[in-house]
Amino acid sequence: MRKAGALINEYLREGKLSSNRSNPVGQGGNAVVYASDTPGNVMKQLKDRDRGRFGLPDDEPAVIDEANLQAIAAEMGIAPRVAGVETFRGGIGNRIEMEDVRDNFEMPPVSSQWPTGKNAVRVNQQLGQLALKGVRLGDRHAGNVVYNKMTGRPLQLDFGIGDRVSGADQVQALAEATAEGFRAAGIGDVGDIFRATVYDLLEGGQVTEAMDVAKQGFSRLQKIKAPLEGAERYKPNAATTGYAIEDFIPG
Ligand SMILES: Nc1ncnc2c1ncn2[C@@H]1O[C@H](COP(=O)(O)OP(=O)(O)O)[C@@H](O)[C@H]1O
Ligand SMILES: [Mg+2]
Repeated sequence: MRKAGALINEYLREGKLSSNRSNPVGQGGNAVVYASDTPGNVMKQLKDRDRGRFGLPDDEPAVIDEANLQAIAAEMGIAPRVAGVETFRGGIGNRIEMEDVRDNFEMPPVSSQWPTGKNAVRVNQQLGQLALKGVRLGDRHAGNVVYNKMTGRPLQLDFGIGDRVSGADQVQALAEATAEGFRAAGIGDVGDIFRATVYDLLEGGQVTEAMDVAKQGFSRLQKIKAPLEGAERYKPNAATTGYAIEDFIPG
């Protein structure tokens, strides 16, 4: 009898979820997002069969990777809290349950596909923080980032395109976020020199040194609050002998 009761409950729950799914909260290329049966949560359910990360027969479902990456960011306070993952036979209907963030976060009116200005500075600061934790997160188009209604602080959605990185890949992830952040801040020239410096070190196999420079650059980016309009600064270039990274990144 207990078993029958559990089956009936599961049936009722699936009925409720499928009715919620017909009125989604949001949709992307891969998933439909709808209200969970637990109030305050949403379900992100993959539209297509989950074939695993590499499409190999014994791959772990891709939703598990996605949820794990998101959980790292949630721990840092920059993504919705993950409530659970459910996988089904054949990978059909796999879903992640997470906090519904619509009360406090919103998408601003979209003027371009990618974040710009202050939003882009802040998004890249968060991407750099993630890189330091060994997470490279991609696909940061306007549909994948929401902003706090009061403070404008970004929150990252959609960890579908992301992976764990270490070594030179981690350095690159940190350097890219930093250089993009500088560009968004209006000092793309600084970003270019910084990027070239890091990549030169990587090409020479000096991963530790490259990470050191990347971290120095990123700590400068972290201090920028908004795009620097008409900022006066000393501008050496890569040809200036004896320059240090401190000389061309504003403090
Ligand atoms: N935690 C959430 N709370 C509220 N809305 C969300 C949440 N996660 C996703 N959404 C909405 O659902 C849309 C699609 O989610 P997303 O994770 O980007 O799916 P996809 O992988 O298909 O692009 C988002 O653009 C957003 O509007
Ligand atoms: Mg998306």
